[in-house]
Amino acid sequence: MSASLRRVGVVGLGTMGAGIAEVLARGGYDVVGVEVNDDALQRGRGHLEKSTGRAVKRGKLSAGDQQAILGRIELDTSFASLADCDLVIEAVPERLDLKRRVFEELDKVCRPDTVLATNTSSLSVTEIAVATERPEQIVGVHFFNPAPVMRLVEIIHTVLTRPEALGAVQDLVTGLGKVGVTIGDRAGFVANRLLFGYLNQAAAMYESGHATREDIDAAMRATGLPMGPLTLMDLIGLDVSLEVCEAIYRETRDRRHAPAPILRRLVTAGLLGRKTGRGFYTYGEPAAETGPQAGEAPSVGVAGSGPLAVAVIRAALRAGADVSFVAGDEAKVRAVREAVGGDVTGGTDLALLADRDLVVEAVAEDVSVKRSLLAAVDDVAREGAVLATTASAVPVIELAMATDRPQDVVGLHLPDPEGELAELVPTVLTDPEVTRRAESYVARLGKHPVRSADRAGFIVDALRVPYLNDAVRLLEAGYADADAIDAAMTYGCGYPIGPIADLDRIGLDHAVEVLRALYTEYREPAFAPAPLLDKLRTAGETFR
Ligand code: CAA
Repeated sequence: MSASLRRVGVVGLGTMGAGIAEVLARGGYDVVGVEVNDDALQRGRGHLEKSTGRAVKRGKLSAGDQQAILGRIELDTSFASLADCDLVIEAVPERLDLKRRVFEELDKVCRPDTVLATNTSSLSVTEIAVATERPEQIVGVHFFNPAPVMRLVEIIHTVLTRPEALGAVQDLVTGLGKVGVTIGDRAGFVANRLLFGYLNQAAAMYESGHATREDIDAAMRATGLPMGPLTLMDLIGLDVSLEVCEAIYRETRDRRHAPAPILRRLVTAGLLGRKTGRGFYTYGEPAAETGPQAGEAPSVGVAGSGPLAVAVIRAALRAGADVSFVAGDEAKVRAVREAVGGDVTGGTDLALLADRDLVVEAVAEDVSVKRSLLAAVDDVAREGAVLATTASAVPVIELAMATDRPQDVVGLHLPDPEGELAELVPTVLTDPEVTRRAESYVARLGKHPVRSADRAGFIVDALRVPYLNDAVRLLEAGYADADAIDAAMTYGCGYPIGPIADLDRIGLDHAVEVLRALYTEYREPAFAPAPLLDKLRTAGETFR
């Protein structure tokens, strides 16, 4: 427990306020929860009982401890009950006028030395602070949803905050077992600034028909994220998501934060996500069954000898498929055999690909090399074969047009060559029947196919790389250091790796290549590589 803070008030017991009250009570604090009326207070009590009840059901908390935690939380509808609190955290809806009114009220009822904190996720803490007579006692404490689970708390100081007030909140956060990241007052702070560009772009991607909601979510989960972006927005609440996007847009004028029209329509219709039972998804309905694909694995031919070709051959061998491959020379043929560790038919003659159901071109990302190889494959592949090209930063149609049968060509992008995800990319000319066949072939090879329009970056790179670029811009602006930025995303959103570390992992070359492809296609200024990213890449350096 913090030495200076013992009794803590929480104003607003919605999802976030109730979660914060629970965290504080678990941490041994006496908590006073305040809501506007008895109905809202009952709902708040319900949140607290449900959340702690879930922990009891899972055997994480004894019934006695649950009672002790709930017993430490006093509930009231009057601000007067906050009079002797050492700290009050406000968690009312994200409207500046409302928050300012709450702070004016708190300023009247609380002791002069009480620290007043706001859990705003995107509004200006400074604008809230100046509504009071004690702006030096105002701090931002931004918890993440679900507050009992997510470890990050962003601690925000304004230009007016006293170091003692900030220090008291930092001690409290650390004492609660959370990871505090202390930063200045900017819209979206670190985590939301990085998260909501991505979430809003995912909403726009769904709305434009680029991919289905299930495929967008599955693709991003396959990169290790705990939730897909549309599911996450339903968890956060579409009303909150809309407000956060608006607030960041107001400050940055970056149109990627201008809310996707679908977000506003859903909110207007009262479809706010999980809390109302429907948002991007409808809750409480049985999930559609997507059992494993039955049927034999296709015969597979692979052209190439790099890591991608090896990954495809390995997957095909694991699926029990009949596989052959073609490499540039005998040394490469031997290297592939060694890498896949199996007795697989291979050589330098493209005729080895002649009778295959699926032929995968998997050579280096060089348009002219890919085009001439596809033209040669076109000469030998049997009629009815599916021709797949592993382009990652080139439009698939540009490659398909190198053949005389573009209707049989699809893109096949493996964001992580050894991973389960396969982005399948039909072009404007691909025969729908070929796309369906390609999808079932890929599934039988043990991959999870998601369909993407033939747009730069497909799904994963289009959503991931601009977010990584945004993280570099925060770093470059000196707003937070690399460790704080990485901690924000790992502890705040459950990412397996922070963005700066992720850039070093995926390679700065690849990131810049994808950004250039995105920029060329959309002419979106924010897709231009951040200067620091480009310079480090040119210098052959990494971030760490
Ligand atoms: N309240 C309390 N505990 C909860 C909970 C809740 N609402 N939801 C889940 N949990 C607990 C479960 O009890 C469980 O605990 P144990 O491991 O101790 O048993 C644990 O969390 C895992 O839960 P589940 O097994 O039910 O579900 P899961 O493994 O799918 O995890 C998740 C659920 C923790 C929400 C996970 O999917 C996740 O991390 N998602 C990302 C969430 C995220 O990005 N949050 C940030 C949103 S942005 C934001 O909040 C800022 C803003 O300003 C808008």
